Amino acid sequence: MSSLSDSPESRTATDPAAAGTAPDPAADPAGLSLREASEGDLDSIWRIESAVFGSDAWSREMMREELVADHRRYLVLVDTDGAVQGYAGLLIVGSEGDVQTIAVADGVRGGGHGRRLMDALLAEAERAEVREVFLEVRADNPVARGLYRSLGFEELGVRPRYYQPDGVDAVIMKLEMKGRR
Ligand SMILES: CC(C)(COP(=O)(O)OP(=O)(O)OC[C@H]1O[C@@H](n2cnc3c(N)ncnc32)[C@H](O)[C@@H]1OP(=O)(O)O)[C@@H](O)C(=O)NCCC(=O)NCCS
Repeated sequence: MSSLSDSPESRTATDPAAAGTAPDPAADPAGLSLREASEGDLDSIWRIESAVFGSDAWSREMMREELVADHRRYLVLVDTDGAVQGYAGLLIVGSEGDVQTIAVADGVRGGGHGRRLMDALLAEAERAEVREVFLEVRADNPVARGLYRSLGFEELGVRPRYYQPDGVDAVIMKLEMKGRR
């Protein structure tokens, strides 16, 4: 997703704080739960990142830096064996948040887990008193755009041919936290 020029291109419910760090299988019929990510999750996250994003994938080092950098909140979606099945990250600077990335492993998509991850990131944003959350999404990603729209994100504009080498536009979206759906 993403894009901030000074950080890896961002691509852009269980409450992770309430969930603590221990997976809670009861939270979801499929036994998937959310917890905070750590550097120890890098290999698992990286496997999903490279499989899902292909030529848009962050480098492993960029991903590692994201997991340890200040002002980030990263969450992982884990199954009952503790295997990572998805992840999402938020950058918070002052009153502004940026969804850095989100991905759910192919085998568990369409089960509401992307929405759970986004809800949890937005709950983090709320706790940090963020007023606006931004993200960028490929114009040719109707699933993600549908998810963001349903959460109240509005499209602000387009960065033409932002995603290279495919030459696909980036759609910039913003959510006003006050009075969000
Ligand atoms: C985008 C992504 C995170 C969504 O996660 P998911 O678990 O598949 O999505 P959910 O089951 O939570 O569905 C959330 C919403 O996405 C949309 N959606 C999900 N599957 C869809 C499909 N097959 N077709 C159209 N819209 C779809 C719907 O708006 C859905 O809401 P609804 O169920 O209330 O109708 C996931 O598809 C993914 O990892 N995609 C690849 C990586 C990616 O594109 N990341 C975003 C980069 S900006």
